[in-house]
Amino acid sequence: MSTFSDAKVALITGATSGLGKSTALAMAKQGWLVVFTARDPQKGEVTRQEIIHASGNSEVAVMLVDVSSQTSIREFATVFSARYSRLHLLVNNVGNSFTTRQISVDGIEMSLAVNHLAPFLLTHLLLPVLQQSTPSRIVNVGTRLNTAMDFDDLQWERRRFRGLSAYAQSKLGNLHFTFALARRLQASGVTVNCVHPGVFRSGLGSTGGDIPFLLKWITGMAQPFLASSDTATKRVVYVALSPELEGMTGKYFGNRQQIEPPPQTLDVSAQERLWQISETLTGLAS
Ligand SMILES: NC(=O)c1ccc[n+]([C@@H]2O[C@H](COP(=O)([O-])OP(=O)(O)OC[C@H]3O[C@@H](n4cnc5c(N)ncnc54)[C@H](OP(=O)(O)O)[C@@H]3O)[C@@H](O)[C@H]2O)c1
Repeated sequence: MSTFSDAKVALITGATSGLGKSTALAMAKQGWLVVFTARDPQKGEVTRQEIIHASGNSEVAVMLVDVSSQTSIREFATVFSARYSRLHLLVNNVGNSFTTRQISVDGIEMSLAVNHLAPFLLTHLLLPVLQQSTPSRIVNVGTRLNTAMDFDDLQWERRRFRGLSAYAQSKLGNLHFTFALARRLQASGVTVNCVHPGVFRSGLGSTGGDIPFLLKWITGMAQPFLASSDTATKRVVYVALSPELEGMTGKYFGNRQQIEPPPQTLDVSAQERLWQISETLTGLAS
């Protein structure tokens, strides 16, 4: 049994910086009960205090999960579902990029593990609680990079690893996933859409590990010239809250309007191929 108020519940993954943090703040200002995830307890608590202070809403909670670990995701989902028993909005926001090929604790290339398999697994585990809170929405934060999914080498075992391409390929998975899930959730009261937030100032890529000093320096130099996350936040909040999107599912949004997804992501056989691979890699198939 929940001991919380009747406020609607939003879960935002990765809200210790960038878009996740500003989205969590925006939802708290709207009077929602906001749960966000962090992987560092101290950073999480500092962020929680900042959001409470800036929003005047005390119903802000932080929960720990490292989404590069499927055990961590499963433990998180179990505790979340027991604690809150309702969920009206899930924003799959965590994203990271890696300059070298790294392997997760589950033996999976990190871009794929963090950017695609993590939201795939987490969403599956939270579906029961989303379904008992209808109407509810899932918002996947994607990106708009020109790339294609190489199904023969999803984990960069045969090609020379290129960080940006690995990031782009894994984020393309967000679109495949969105469209395949929308088909399965048709008329369930749970909608799922993907949003491209635009390019903005954030910590993206700065924590991916093993980053050459020069690259870190160049990326850092570019940051002041990028837009703040304000516009990106408005894009996410629009897909999360706007009444005119009630019941709308399986769409891709840019700046508060639908945008054309890359053709490959509309190919149902490609969506289903990635779905099956993802079920196997996350252990959901069994
Ligand atoms: N920035 C852009 O221009 C841009 C453009 C298009 C799309 N996007 C997308 O927007 C989303 C948010 O990115 P951002 O730019 O706001 O990035 P960010 O500032 O780096 O924030 C990423 C968040 O994810 C968390 N995170 C990273 N790896 C994690 C892990 N293994 N387990 C748990 N949490 C983890 C980070 O936690 P820590 O604080 O502990 O690192 C942080 O809270 C991503 O999906 C990204 O792909 C960004």
